[in-house]
Amino acid sequence: FPTSLTDLVRGHIREIPDFPAPGVLFRDITPLLADGPAFGALVDGLAEKYRGRVDAVAGLESRGFILAAPLANALGVGMITVRKAGRLPGPVIGVDYALEYGTARMELRPETVRDGQRVLIIDDVLATGGTGAAAVKLIERSGGEVVALAMLLELAALGGRSKLEGHDVDAVLVY
Ligand code: PRP
Ligand code: MG
Repeated sequence: FPTSLTDLVRGHIREIPDFPAPGVLFRDITPLLADGPAFGALVDGLAEKYRGRVDAVAGLESRGFILAAPLANALGVGMITVRKAGRLPGPVIGVDYALEYGTARMELRPETVRDGQRVLIIDDVLATGGTGAAAVKLIERSGGEVVALAMLLELAALGGRSKLEGHDVDAVLVY
């Protein structure tokens, strides 16, 4: 991504110490979303990178949806919803993944992915990579081809990229 886009995003992230738990520095994207021109420039910048390269954009519930919907629309393609457990009517496939404490599950209706479809996965944050890796499995098991994972923020110290080996991971801003 161009430096100008990275700088724009950096300028609209709020850093909140000790949220949601002591010792955690939370990167809040709500100021970016609330700024119309900045949000628009972000969607334009993402669209420029992937135009013509993808047939669908898969958003990861919940914060990934915020980015996936306008991007899919800007690219003129559909959006695939990868959802938290129990939200989608069947038939669904699911993948369990580890959280810091316990596990979580993401689900997908495989019929929303066409065989050979080129899919861009997008989410707001790459942390440990568990969510992104679960999404890759779901898309691939449904017959899709993961073109890349686009992440607004990457928290590099948490090593999420190692769970996504073999896939392009494009982060707008890396901490
Ligand atoms: C956050 C964030 C990413 C994920 C990254 O989602 O939005 O989806 O964690 O973490 P990981 O790389 O360690 O898997 P969260 O599950 O907090 O829910 P939300 O999107 O609904 O806010
Ligand atoms: Mg999320």
